[in-house]
Amino acid sequence: MDLRMKGISKSFGANLVLDGVDFAVDGGDITALLGENGAGKSTLMNILGGVIPRNSGVITLDGKDCEFHTPRESLDAGIAFIHQELNLINDLAIYENLFIGREKKRKGGILDKESMVAETRRVFERMDIDLDPEAMVRDLDASYKQIVEISRAMLMNAKLVIMDEPTTSLTEPEIERVFALMRTLKKQGVGIIFISHKLKEVLEICDKYTVLRDGHMVSSGLVKDVTASDLARMMVGHEVQSGTRKEESLSGEVVMEGRNLSDGKHFSDISFKLHKGEVLGFTGLLGDGRSELFQTLFGASGAYEGQLLIEGQEVRMKSTMQAVSLGIGYVPRNRKENGIVKDLSILENGSLVTLKLRKKHGMIDWQSVHEDFSHEKQALSIKMEHEDDLITSLSGGNQQKVVLAKWLSLNPKVLILDNPTQGVDVGAKEEIYGIIESLAEKGVSVIVLSSEAQEIMRVASRCFVLYHGRIMGELKGSEMEEETMMRLATGVEE
Ligand SMILES: Nc1ncnc2c1ncn2[C@@H]1O[C@H](COP(=O)(O)OP(=O)(O)OP(=O)(O)O)[C@@H](O)[C@H]1O
Ligand SMILES: [Mg+2]
Repeated sequence: MDLRMKGISKSFGANLVLDGVDFAVDGGDITALLGENGAGKSTLMNILGGVIPRNSGVITLDGKDCEFHTPRESLDAGIAFIHQELNLINDLAIYENLFIGREKKRKGGILDKESMVAETRRVFERMDIDLDPEAMVRDLDASYKQIVEISRAMLMNAKLVIMDEPTTSLTEPEIERVFALMRTLKKQGVGIIFISHKLKEVLEICDKYTVLRDGHMVSSGLVKDVTASDLARMMVGHEVQSGTRKEESLSGEVVMEGRNLSDGKHFSDISFKLHKGEVLGFTGLLGDGRSELFQTLFGASGAYEGQLLIEGQEVRMKSTMQAVSLGIGYVPRNRKENGIVKDLSILENGSLVTLKLRKKHGMIDWQSVHEDFSHEKQALSIKMEHEDDLITSLSGGNQQKVVLAKWLSLNPKVLILDNPTQGVDVGAKEEIYGIIESLAEKGVSVIVLSSEAQEIMRVASRCFVLYHGRIMGELKGSEMEEETMMRLATGVEE
């Protein structure tokens, strides 16, 4: 298999997003497609996947010219596209999702459920995946949905697999599983395009790289010849300084305190204190309960036992409105399902939580909404055209920044960030860390939930490691080491 894309150009209205891009992939290679948020990676892949038309350029697959008008045509040519925003139907079972549009039928047109389930089971066995083909997709968390999408590509015997940020919502062991799978595909001669903002992963799994910057191809070569900072520099166009965490002392008053919190299912016996101006981390592996814990404390989930104190006063958190009015903000993970409202504009998405607070004489004061958003837009360097465009016209990473802007505009006392840099490029990651630090300096207490040990070590001064809903240990300052955190996260006592 060999794929060549030559001189690909694409504009959306007056916005030239790809300008004469060349890109090539060979069978048996894993090629990284890199670039900042909004560089044009997903757009290039959407063209290859038949999702959108190009304005000019040539695509050849095994030497033959290709013209894909629909995703179906691209798929029929052997190209499987695993999108950045997952593409599964929640109300169907796993096996049904795997066979959408290609259902197996018996004579007479009746669906052959048995053979579809059996084939799904075979793929899962081959990939060492422990999932029931008949389970509903709705009941899977983001990481398993990802795995189902990859299985779908496997099932179709794809020649070329496009993976647009496949690992953003996955935890270490799952990433390893996906990598193992990619190596298997590679051995079978499949070509893989791997888009990721995690350069460590790129160095680990990829053979070749191509870097896009502002719609131009700026460099390509062999991964073995470069370092992570080389790649970061090519993406951003200048050196990327990675900051280091400042040591803090816990002198501030306690702003939030949990005492023996349990929900009877996802977390139990959780006690912690959050001080004013502190950045506190919570980490662990899949199923550690950290998201459920903070969704509950934000009033977005069910009931809990134990006590929650805000500035020394016990509160029973019953709704998100109550949490917001107490000055608590929460940036959820998994932008597509929890973060954005697809039918609203960028500005509306960026100001949703504060709209209610901004009424003057019963009318929304759009002037101040607009001013605040412009401020956040600049602070977070959100790459966009017009505020009134739909949020879905932004690149994935920029959507994430809009979600963050929404909560920053609330000026919260406590800000809970669940995987805040998911899908965000290296440069912007540092910007977000910088914002977290300056919020803390201004006295905001920040809780960062993250599956990335590196991220916790970078921003938090202290962290709790969870395992199956229980606190396994608390690490301070230099005690936070990747190995120690991993040991606690896998249930090994300190
Ligand atoms: N449907 C669309 N309508 C208008 N503009 C769009 C559309 N899709 C993408 N764009 C614009 O094209 C540019 C490139 O977006 P693209 O999604 O390809 O970026 P990306 O490299 O995948 O970024 P990320 O790392 O954030 O996912 C962005 O400026 C984006 O706003
Ligand atoms: Mg993208």
